[in-house]
Amino acid sequence: VVSGLVAVLAGVRGGELEVRLGAEAEGRVVRFPGVWLRDNCLCGECADPVAGQKLHGVTDIPLDASVVEAEMVEAEAGGDGVAVTFGPDGHRGLFELGWLARHALDGYEDELDGYGDELNGKELWGASADIGAVPEARWPCYVADPAARIGALRAVLRWGFVVLREVPAVPGRVLEVAESFGFVRETNYGRLFDVRIEPAPGNLAFTSREILPHTDNPYRDPVPTIQLLHCLRVADEGGDTGLVDGFAAAAELQATDPEAFEVLTGTTVRFEYRDKAAVLSASQPLIQLSPRGTVRGIRFNNRSVQPIRLPYERVREFYAAYRTWAELLARPERRLVMRLAPGDCLIFDNTRILHARTAFSVTGSRHLQGCYADLDGLASTLAVLERETR
Ligand code: OGA
Ligand code: ZN
Ligand code: ZN
Repeated sequence: VVSGLVAVLAGVRGGELEVRLGAEAEGRVVRFPGVWLRDNCLCGECADPVAGQKLHGVTDIPLDASVVEAEMVEAEAGGDGVAVTFGPDGHRGLFELGWLARHALDGYEDELDGYGDELNGKELWGASADIGAVPEARWPCYVADPAARIGALRAVLRWGFVVLREVPAVPGRVLEVAESFGFVRETNYGRLFDVRIEPAPGNLAFTSREILPHTDNPYRDPVPTIQLLHCLRVADEGGDTGLVDGFAAAAELQATDPEAFEVLTGTTVRFEYRDKAAVLSASQPLIQLSPRGTVRGIRFNNRSVQPIRLPYERVREFYAAYRTWAELLARPERRLVMRLAPGDCLIFDNTRILHARTAFSVTGSRHLQGCYADLDGLASTLAVLERETR
């Protein structure tokens, strides 16, 4: 959130630039240290004119760089600017006032919401009531209309998932869906994987059994951040999909049992997967925090979790926290239940949303195809679409 794009030059004091922000920011004066400003100079000497990228490294900037002079200039494009002369070398650069206001350092902490930058437009949900209707789009519209694509991709960032309807129930189409917003993340399971009953399953996913809420592939580092599941055939009975917002659940755990939250965020757990062709192993906390202490990622999978390794004295405490967390995640009121129909393709954030399925009848030959992709590619596609339609 930008506080007061309107800004004016306030002056130079103690080698720093001072700018007065607009009324929105109550006319606050914000300061820019010389070394910071000099490092961000993008003049013809400091940045490549075509790539727009910095030519210098931070060691090229004197730590005692200072602002010795500043004056308002009318910039050709993009509003007024401040021409700055730096000490000790007399270097000159131009900074747009709007840019300075957007990058204000004073008061920066105040502008963060409770979840910090990582929240990124996320809206946490506890149950279907918080969401209203399931976020969805029809595949033919999604393909034809950039506005429909924007809506669907935004839903993945905001709610953690979207359902695309009417994706032809044809093997392989799930890859086309992934390629519509990013890049398929190929794994040892291939570019895509089939979820259906197998004769000698190496994974419970390939049986008709219930699967508890989990995230996929926690034994990878980095984990695939987007998962797709495309329904080709349904079972005669059962096989319903359940989704849980892990970030909302983590917020509840933090509020109701801060000790358990601390144990889970501070203990690494090993996940592993082995077969003839792969030995995959990763050790991470079940709830991963950013350096600022906000929730950044959930890993949870009872099928691939390994025996916990902890000093003996800490094992009971860990199990108490682990069970509390699992109970919270399994609460029916946290679970959004839907039944995928042939042609439905679920896209979800595998760092945030846990998915589950109920047991199903062997009749009906239930068949899903899935694949992985990544959130950064999705966010990039969305940003480009939004830039193009602005
Ligand atoms: C999976 C999975 C869910 C389902 O394969 O990762 O969780 O509905 N499948 O079969
Ligand atoms: Zn410069
Ligand atoms: Zn899964």
